[in-house]
Amino acid sequence: MSSTFGTLFRVTNFGESHGPAIGCVIDGCPPGMALAEADIQPELDRRRPGTSRHVTQRNEPDAVQILSGVYEGVTTGTPICLLIHNTDQRSKDYGNLLDTFRPGHADYSYWRKYGLRDPRGGGRASARLTAPMVGAGAVARKWLREHHGTGFRGCMTHLGAIAIPFEGWEHVPNNPFFAANASMIAELEAAMDALRKEGDSVGARILVEATNVPPGLGEPLADKLDAEIAYAMMGINAVKGVEIGAGFGCVAQRGSVHGDELTPAGFRSNNAGGVLGGISTGQDITVAIAIKPTSSIRAPRASIDRSGAPTVVQTFGRHDPCVGIRATPIAEAMLALVLMDHALRQRAQCGDVRLATPPIPARARR
Ligand SMILES: Cc1cc2nc3c(=O)[nH]c(=O)nc-3n(C[C@H](O)[C@H](O)[C@H](O)COP(=O)(O)O)c2cc1C
Repeated sequence: MSSTFGTLFRVTNFGESHGPAIGCVIDGCPPGMALAEADIQPELDRRRPGTSRHVTQRNEPDAVQILSGVYEGVTTGTPICLLIHNTDQRSKDYGNLLDTFRPGHADYSYWRKYGLRDPRGGGRASARLTAPMVGAGAVARKWLREHHGTGFRGCMTHLGAIAIPFEGWEHVPNNPFFAANASMIAELEAAMDALRKEGDSVGARILVEATNVPPGLGEPLADKLDAEIAYAMMGINAVKGVEIGAGFGCVAQRGSVHGDELTPAGFRSNNAGGVLGGISTGQDITVAIAIKPTSSIRAPRASIDRSGAPTVVQTFGRHDPCVGIRATPIAEAMLALVLMDHALRQRAQCGDVRLATPPIPARARR
């Protein structure tokens, strides 16, 4: 099993959904950065379950503890271990899944690969394991903010078939959907309430951006920045599609429109999404992800049992009826981890490069 992410900023993730604890070990964090639990907890609180009626009612405080790598409030350059206790497991809810496989979940593939599985809460396949990545992402975000002024933000742009027009980032923290639009909330709430009654689920589309990204990040050919971003995003549970910049929309664009013109005052557009040739340009990095509908639903679905005989699965217990609702902080964290890793790699190889050409200011698409 592969559980380590990153090259110079390496995050090794451990734990299971219903084990005693989950967490990660971060190797390669530069020394000398002030770091406390209070720097990490707010990001975990954004991802945490049980915060509205539209997400799973599993009630985890997700309180993070720093076990190592920090002395007198400052990172020492040694491995940073983050620990998060699981406190609200209800493993009996998964009793009926011991002998069968939820369509769309990882039950069947884990069973085929390992010959056994921990069915409690999805075991290692649970999105609970994204919490340590959000914790590590908070460390990366802090370093990038302090060294480059880099910022991260994200929002939900579609809930199922409902498009959420962008109004302003200021709306995002004020609703349970991470929607950048205050006037849509009533419609989104009604859609989720109806969905819950039906025992079904929907997907979502999430947009994430990084601002003040230093140019030069990314290592062609094998570790292009856009390739690593796509890898990180596809690694998030339930993600089925990734677009960078104009994404699939580039198919219908002309070259005279798609190519972002350069002027001394800034780029005229950002169809590239901040990456050209696998290297950051200094423009905002823009990424969209498609998240599939939750597979654990009350609606009866055809499956097989362990002997291969046909059966019907219905999933009860506590689940997110739209897993995309909690995905925004996770996608921001994964983007931060990729940029952090590449900022260190860039410093290692090209830290001495000096150019007479002034950098072109980034200009956001909106
Ligand atoms: C924030 C988040 C919460 C999730 N919660 C659930 C859940 O409650 N029930 C469920 O069946 N799947 C949930 N998932 C999705 C599963 O973890 C995922 O579909 C499963 O591991 C199979 O992996 P795959 O969809 O990436 O192929 C969640 C995903 C995310 C990102």
